[in-house]
Amino acid sequence: MEILLSADDLAAGIGRLSDDVKREVGRRPITVVGVLTGSIVLVADLIRRLEGPVTVSMVWASSYRGTATRPGELELRLDLLPDLAGQDVLLVDDIFDTGHTLKALLQELRRRGAASVRSLVLLRKTGRSEVDIEPDFVGFEIPDKFVVGYGLDFDGDLRHLPHLAALDDDDIAAARASQARCTEPASRS
Ligand code: IMP
Ligand code: MG
Repeated sequence: MEILLSADDLAAGIGRLSDDVKREVGRRPITVVGVLTGSIVLVADLIRRLEGPVTVSMVWASSYRGTATRPGELELRLDLLPDLAGQDVLLVDDIFDTGHTLKALLQELRRRGAASVRSLVLLRKTGRSEVDIEPDFVGFEIPDKFVVGYGLDFDGDLRHLPHLAALDDDDIAAARASQARCTEPASRS
């Protein structure tokens, strides 16, 4: 695994992001809406650097990657959201890849009558966007590689790494093999 961003790099990026948000939103109340599950670490770090009234809520999105590293059909669950009418909302996701997840969620949040909806992502992959929108705040531009850690997973694993690492084809094959070993029934003797 190649380390793309160390824990210190990530902390500096969150510092810049929170400064940018504070500059734009000031001390007005803000509703942070995180996208489960990949944004959990980012949301936890970001909200502790914001000032003024902050409400936190979560939605869930999955692009049915399953064991794959390519996006598929998008599924959204917004049933945990509070009433957003008149709120200034900051949608927070881990990564902007094709952009379909962020675009669909922004449409949903705007339909709910928020006064404003801005979007923030930790990472944006270069040259991958398939949509006509851009996130308002971007932490880091990264190359088109599959990345894990700091909340991002490979097939449910590796979210807990404190840094961001890129997986190459050999890393992916090794991760699959190790998962297969873990799910094999214990041999009887
Ligand atoms: P998009 O809809 O293609 O922009 O995909 C966004 C979602 O796909 C993110 O919220 C992530 O959950 C997931 N994703 C995209 N790229 C990666 C990656 O490199 N590693 C882990 N998850 C990723
Ligand atoms: Mg996600």
